[in-house]
Amino acid sequence: MSLDFQLIKPVGQLKELERYPLYEPFAYATIVQDERTGGDIMYYLEEITLDPIEQQVYKELVRIVMLELPPPEELTKMGDVKNYLLNELKKIVGRYRRLFRNVPPSSFAKFLYYMERDLLGYGPIDALMRDENIEDISCDGVGRPIYVFHRRYESIPTNIVPMTDQALDDLVVKLIHMSGRHVSVATPIVDAQLPDGSRIAVTYRREVSPGGSTFTIRKFRKNPLTFTELVRFGNISAEIAGYFWVMLDNGRSFLVLGVTGAGKTSFLNAMATFIRPHMKIITVEEVPEINLPHKNWVRLVTRQSYGTEKINEITLFDLVKATLRMRPDYLIVGEIRGGEEAYVLFQAVNTGHSGISTMHAESFEAAVNRLMSPPMNIPPAYIPAMNIFVMIKRVKIGGKLTRRVTEVGEVYMDGDKIRFNTVFRWNPRTDTHDSFVEKSILVKQISDMTGKDVDEILREIDTRAKIVNWMLENGIFNFEDVSTYVQTYYTNPDKILNQVFGKVSEVESTT
Ligand SMILES: Nc1ncnc2c1ncn2[C@@H]1O[C@H](COP(=O)(O)OP(=O)(O)OP(=O)(O)O)[C@@H](O)[C@H]1O
Ligand SMILES: [Mg+2]
Repeated sequence: MSLDFQLIKPVGQLKELERYPLYEPFAYATIVQDERTGGDIMYYLEEITLDPIEQQVYKELVRIVMLELPPPEELTKMGDVKNYLLNELKKIVGRYRRLFRNVPPSSFAKFLYYMERDLLGYGPIDALMRDENIEDISCDGVGRPIYVFHRRYESIPTNIVPMTDQALDDLVVKLIHMSGRHVSVATPIVDAQLPDGSRIAVTYRREVSPGGSTFTIRKFRKNPLTFTELVRFGNISAEIAGYFWVMLDNGRSFLVLGVTGAGKTSFLNAMATFIRPHMKIITVEEVPEINLPHKNWVRLVTRQSYGTEKINEITLFDLVKATLRMRPDYLIVGEIRGGEEAYVLFQAVNTGHSGISTMHAESFEAAVNRLMSPPMNIPPAYIPAMNIFVMIKRVKIGGKLTRRVTEVGEVYMDGDKIRFNTVFRWNPRTDTHDSFVEKSILVKQISDMTGKDVDEILREIDTRAKIVNWMLENGIFNFEDVSTYVQTYYTNPDKILNQVFGKVSEVESTT
């Protein structure tokens, strides 16, 4: 199979922009720019190659290994698979010494690389899956280069090209099998989750995609992005984090907007860590992406039907409806797709639940229009219960591509019109977030409900922003650590306050 994916050699005058290892010393990524066209950037994967003799031996070796080793599903369940493989290979090599007469001992490491790649890994795209800089991998059909979405260069072609229908179909079947699902001519469209947590969507053969099988992978981040990282990257300000912390503490709802890949789910996830530790949270998703530190958390995931009649299918709508009987404090719907699930979510936030979700939209107005139009048909009076709308955009700053929360707005009704009270707005000239939080309607609302002064709540937002900044200065970025600080602040605020404002509180206590 591996040989049916070609690594095309780049031609022309190419300038190397950067080169980094993916799996030393076997696979490297080089980013090149075509100087003739003055711009075209390409991702060039260099993988160690097998010469024709080695290829023959490798094929034979795989055949033997397939006969002698447990199937890959079993293998991947074992702890140290790599070592196990290495040992087994040594045994096999010992037993089939004849086979290795024509290859030098150095070939052995290469065989092991390919074996790991093809039997345990993602085959021809395995090296791409190892690249932390890649967000998406997509294949548009046979004979066309696989594209990647690179953190620094956006969408660029690679030199990896599936050369035959068979090779591409095999890869798609392999990927879907690894996800524990099934794809066939009868059900040629499948969404699934790869073993590492990545999301994959495929179309099989030429059933619905005349150019051959396709796949799109949204790569999973091993460590979810945290709010301290978002502040460090400048995606949000510490004050925005402080604001969300107080809002979620008080059960407010929010909806994250942006285009595909803007970072909606990542933002949602980072903010959800602010929810009080013992709240009952239910997440409803098509593919499990959300990751929470909370113990009282029920994760629900939709089920696709296997037959053509869709009788066994369980949709977002079915699940969101079911959650209402499960009394969640927070209902998180991974993404509003524009069906009945949106209606039920808005019903939920209008009947005393708190809700969080994301939706594709280019602006607040576009989002409101979509929500109120068919098929969602949400009555305007329902919309303000989704208290906060957040807009995320990919922007270029100093030639570099990055993400910014460009606006945080509080929804309210003005007569029969939906309006937004901007509490934070990104300023592109200074690349900072302007704050209008003192005019927050929700702070006023929380004050009315809790009896706390508006000033006191604003001070609390400021205190929590300072805690976030302190965490930043102390290098607390990791998901578990960040969550522990938030949870400790809920259960034992003095401990955190002492840590962060130690000296201040000493001064206060002596005065
Ligand atoms: N602030 C960020 N900094 C760096 N990388 C980010 C950031 N936000 C998101 N990403 C990365 O960008 C990719 C897309 O992010 P995410 O899934 O959150 O986007 P999305 O808007 O929910 O996309 P979709 O519309 O497909 O659901 C992921 O690989 C994620 O790790
Ligand atoms: Mg998303």
